[in-house]
Formats: sequence, C-alpha cells, structure tokens
Amino acid sequence: MPRLVIVDHPLVQHKLTLLRMKQTPTAEFRRLAREIALLLAYEITRDLPLAPVPIETPLEAMEARMLAGKKLCIVSILRAGNGLLEGMLELLPSARVGHIGLWRDPATLQPVEYYYKVPQDIAERPVIVVDPMLATANSAVRAVDRLKADGAKDIKFACLIAAPEGTARMHDAHPDVPVFTAALDRQLNDHGYILPGLGDAGDRLFGTR
Ligand code: PRP
Ligand code: URA
Repeated sequence: MPRLVIVDHPLVQHKLTLLRMKQTPTAEFRRLAREIALLLAYEITRDLPLAPVPIETPLEAMEARMLAGKKLCIVSILRAGNGLLEGMLELLPSARVGHIGLWRDPATLQPVEYYYKVPQDIAERPVIVVDPMLATANSAVRAVDRLKADGAKDIKFACLIAAPEGTARMHDAHPDVPVFTAALDRQLNDHGYILPGLGDAGDRLFGTR
C-alpha cells in the first residue's frame, strides 16, 4: 500500500472546493465534511479481507463473500475529527469508535491530551484515525503513538487536507501508517495553518468563531 493516497475522485474534489470557500456556512461545511468522509472511507477500506460465505439467493445456493475478521475501529481526534466520524459511520455502521482529545497549543504547536478512550481490544482491530487537518502532524503522531502503545498494529490515517511538512513528519514517525487525504496543499504558515487550506476546521465545523 502506498504511504500517501490522494483521493482525487471528482466528487471528493468538488466537495472539497466548496468546503474550502470562506463563505460556506457552518451547516453546509458539516454536511460536506460528512460526505467527503464517507467517500474517503470507501477508498480506505478497499483492502479489508473477505471470506467465503455460503448463502441462498431466491434462485439457488452460492458461495458469496463477506467481510472477515474483527470489526474495525474509527478513532476520532477531538474535536474536529468528529466532523469526519459521522460520515465514516454511515458507511461502516458496525465500526467501534475511539476518541482521543488533543488540543493544539498555539504557542508551541504541540498537542495537549485531555481525553483518551478506545475499545479494550484495539490491538486486534484495524484502526482508522480521523482528523480533518494534517498540519505539523504533531497531533496525528501523538494519537498514533498512543494507539500503538495499546497494541494497535493495523492503523490508517484519514484527513481532508495534508501539508507536505506534516506528511513528511508522519511518514518519518510512523512509516507503517498510510495517509489518505483529499488534497496535499502547499505549505504551513507561521502559525501552523495549512495554505491554502480551509482555515480552522474545528471552528468551521462547530461555528465557534
Ligand atoms: C486542529 C486539527 C488537528 C490539528 C492539526 O485541532 O483538528 O487536530 O489542529 O494540527 P497539527 O497537525 O499541527 O497537530 P485543534 O488543536 O485546533 O483542536 P480542535 O479540533 O479542538 O479544534
Ligand atoms: N488545524 C486547522 O484546523 N487548520 C489548519 O490549517 C491547521 C491546523
């Protein structure tokens, strides 16, 4: 699997453009984030294992295929990760859900952890970590550190927009964790925001500014 997957499906790109626009209101921003997350989930789950299952159609018996193994776990980096969580759960309604509360200190750009709750058997499940923005990647790297400390081995990371700086840092820290993104943007600004980006994902999702 490649370490960076840019999901360039036309629907994803169209919705991402609407999401970036500064005039897009909160309700529409939330809806677009949910829809893109659903489309990202479709790509991310492409390699899930299948097992043969004997079934009967109305006409005859056949051997069909269904998902095999433990149900996956979606881990949302609070709070903006919740903007993607909903869309992923629409496609994967049986998935388990974990939450990691990380707040990015604007002075140091280092994450401060305030919450952590994941399924006890996280080590046995495929994991998708979701957060709309991969900027410095300090938050994503910390989240994956925590999950690996609990034994998680099969981890993927999903975001809307990644910065080249964050992508490189994530690959260095966790080369085994593929990054799925709708866009790879130009650079970070002096405050650690992605350019051109979409602004502050949490504030735009929840209308807090
Ligand atoms: C934002 C975003 C990521 C983080 C990305 O969260 O949702 O979690 O910044 O930046 P990084 O790659 O440089 O770590 P923020 O700390 O603003 O918190 P919020 O989700 O509560 O708004
Ligand atoms: N967090 C955001 O919400 N936006 C950015 O551009 C960078 C970090």
